[in-house]
Amino acid sequence: MNMNREEIIAALSPDKDPAELFALADKVRRENVGDAVHLRGLIEFSNHCRRRCYYCGIRAGNARVRRYRLSPEQILDCARTAVRLNYKTIVMQSGEDPHYDPKALASILEAVKTETGLAITLSVGEHSREDYKLLRAAGADRFLLRFETSDRRLFSMLKPDSDYDTRFRCLAWLKEAGFQVGSGVMSGLPGQSLESMADDILLFKELELDMVGIGPFIANPDTPMAGAHNGTLEAALRMVALTRIVTVNTHIPATTAMGSIDPKGRQKALRCGANVLMPNISPAEHRSDYSLYPGKICVSEAPEDCAGCMDAMLKNLGRARAEGFGHSLKSIEASPR
Ligand code: 5AD
Ligand code: FES
Repeated sequence: MNMNREEIIAALSPDKDPAELFALADKVRRENVGDAVHLRGLIEFSNHCRRRCYYCGIRAGNARVRRYRLSPEQILDCARTAVRLNYKTIVMQSGEDPHYDPKALASILEAVKTETGLAITLSVGEHSREDYKLLRAAGADRFLLRFETSDRRLFSMLKPDSDYDTRFRCLAWLKEAGFQVGSGVMSGLPGQSLESMADDILLFKELELDMVGIGPFIANPDTPMAGAHNGTLEAALRMVALTRIVTVNTHIPATTAMGSIDPKGRQKALRCGANVLMPNISPAEHRSDYSLYPGKICVSEAPEDCAGCMDAMLKNLGRARAEGFGHSLKSIEASPR
């Protein structure tokens, strides 16, 4: 559905009652992507990171983090857990960990794909055009790379060792390599204007993304942004609703960050546009160390606990798990094997 920048800004404004917006987004979701919810098992396989993004708890140099890295065998075990819990997709996420370079990742992808046949999403940051091709050929189907904010000035304030244009070039390379591509932003960042949030949403559409993830910014006390104001759930939900209305058939998760600032955050997101959940399937002993922000949920649960919790959540909402892989509703590129 077309909305212009002014209309989006008006709908994002905190003065405006969001009830109508949320109802419209729920309707667009139902009519275009249906009632089924896709479960993507999240494996946080390394919290080592070479970057120093100011908002992020696993930034390089944060001595308070206990660093860990799962072995290839442990990653494969997580994938087996996903199969057991009847998830059809795993998301392999890490910091930008030089130990797991694309060659090392490729051999893990091949092993996981061959044994499990799961759909695989990577979320491992910025790499070269050639490396993205390598990862795609090794069996990864999808890739998540949030651009975090469309505001160039804010971007450079948040990500001191990243470049705005490079980030968008990576998104183009991912698409060229044949990935189903997801991106997204944080909402409620310090200094983020309604105008720039409207531009975020317009960019989601322009980039023809397959997936869009949005979560509230949550200030981490072990980062330079300690003490900053958190984003609100409501602002994040307005972003989700508008993203659904404007992009129509993208996959939109009810994110962990939403569930972390409000115990009903993910349920609310599923009722205003979201159609994906990302249950954590990382091993219990490392969960609390993937500490992007404080108050993260599911750190003391086992994979089966989150599966049960999510099934109960869906039942309560009158929704059900999706059956298939939940590939892009836009892209036609098939998995290489
Ligand atoms: N608050 C909320 N979200 C965060 N992320 C990283 N740090 C924070 C934080 N402090 C998000 C970023 C990143 C994703 C993996 O987690 O958007 O892309
Ligand atoms: Fe992990 Fe609810 S999803 S406990």
